[in-house]
Amino acid sequence: MTAARAFFVTTPIFYVNDTPHLGHAYPTVAADALARFMRLDGKRVKFLTGTDEHGQKVEQSARSFGISPQEFADRNSSAFREMTRLLDISNDDFIRTTEPRHIRGVEAIWQQLERRGEIYLGPFAGWYSVRDEAFYDESELVDGKAPTGADVEWLEEENYFFRLSAWQDRLLAYYDANPEAIAPRSRRNEVVSFVRAGLRDLSISRTSFSWGIPVPGSPSHVIYVWLDALTNYITALRYPDTEDPDFSIFWPTVLHIVGKDIVRFHAVYWPAFLMAAGLEPPSRIFAHGWWTIEGQKMSKSLGNGIPPGVLVERYGVDPARYFLLRELPFGSDGDFSHRAVVGRLNSDLANDFGNLAQRVLVMINRNCDASVPEPGEPAGLDTALIDAARGLLETVRGQISEQAFHLALEAIWRVVGEANRYVDETVLYTLAEAIRHLAILAQPFIPGAAGKLLDQLAVPMTARCFAALESAPLIPGTPLPKPEGIFPRFLEAPAG
Ligand code: MSP
Repeated sequence: MTAARAFFVTTPIFYVNDTPHLGHAYPTVAADALARFMRLDGKRVKFLTGTDEHGQKVEQSARSFGISPQEFADRNSSAFREMTRLLDISNDDFIRTTEPRHIRGVEAIWQQLERRGEIYLGPFAGWYSVRDEAFYDESELVDGKAPTGADVEWLEEENYFFRLSAWQDRLLAYYDANPEAIAPRSRRNEVVSFVRAGLRDLSISRTSFSWGIPVPGSPSHVIYVWLDALTNYITALRYPDTEDPDFSIFWPTVLHIVGKDIVRFHAVYWPAFLMAAGLEPPSRIFAHGWWTIEGQKMSKSLGNGIPPGVLVERYGVDPARYFLLRELPFGSDGDFSHRAVVGRLNSDLANDFGNLAQRVLVMINRNCDASVPEPGEPAGLDTALIDAARGLLETVRGQISEQAFHLALEAIWRVVGEANRYVDETVLYTLAEAIRHLAILAQPFIPGAAGKLLDQLAVPMTARCFAALESAPLIPGTPLPKPEGIFPRFLEAPAG
């Protein structure tokens, strides 16, 4: 298997001190669309998600519930696993940082860094934010708080340090040689200026609490939660067994989907840890934007984080996925409002795609003996419509390689629009073929609904991949099931 045919995509692993909400659903749905797209495009795919279970924040939350951190982690990790089920997520693996396979890999990377002289013991004094699980310089604080608004505490303890400062030039060389490694461009620029400004060595162990992986040989220290967490991306590939096919096939051609708040960890610390351990840095990191809810910041205290279950119950899984991917450019911030959701879903799904499919399938059912009609003589409009549908794969592939989901969907829906405009002037076979193309291409984004449409066109399971777009047109005379509406229409909802 060559790297060009392999595709490894990851979500951040989610802290178990919180329960799943829209902010966690977002990268998960995006990574799922990518994984599904690549599988349909003939690639060998690994799609990894999971939970981040160690650290002071989780320890404190568990204590406030009066249960052990492990019990607390077990409970909340299953909620994230349940989120994957609710959102029709096709992950191949779900990693938990409390699993033996992960702990073994983190111990191994620590020992490797130590052997290579990248770690030393020294006194630490500085600011730490438990909420962010991050260290801050005095100069970064804003009104005595972290730049994220989180509280910080003064910390003085003996820590192990990673020689991050020694990696500045090699990090800059990595960014330089890989202009696509950090996206979007604005994030890349931020990272490059941060590294250019100079790096300090990074504290990578703690002694004031115990919920973490003990430092090999120094059990009074636990490994810094970010070194622990980032390593999940390779422990899931069986690191330290770098000869294992999982590792050799999927590393380093990875795409890490992350939120804009955790870019520094992924684009600075992670490549430095990897290179220092003698491994390749990741090939791409894409940072998406943040959602507000009805104009407000999503926060635990406001309790406005929408759980995936609520989203799915209210709109259905495919419409919810469609909205998240279509509404915003993936790198931008935006607002989630029920008004916007209802407007978008009624117009794009119920009116545009839903009506097209319904009209065509009902006409075929009534007038063509409920089976795929004969193509007949194609007229100019027929050829134009089919050509537009045929050109889509290449366009969408280009957009997806840049994680531009909204543009990919916009391109598909442009052809939905054309088909709708010509519905009365084209032959039914052409329209059915156009719908087949559209449904095949829509599968990564709205797998359930697209699958139902393909069922209604009697497209066999083996003819639903992208190669089948050209190789397996509809066969005239194939009997079709009774048409059924695919996309519900929603009532204009009051906010909330
Ligand atoms: N555990 C770390 C990640 C470790 S990865 C090796 C973490 N977890 S988290 O649960 O706090 O956040 C996970 C992701 O959810 C982050 O990428 C974050 O950007 C994303 N989101 C949380 N709230 C969000 C919004 N309101 N909008 C969009 N994404 C948001 O960080």
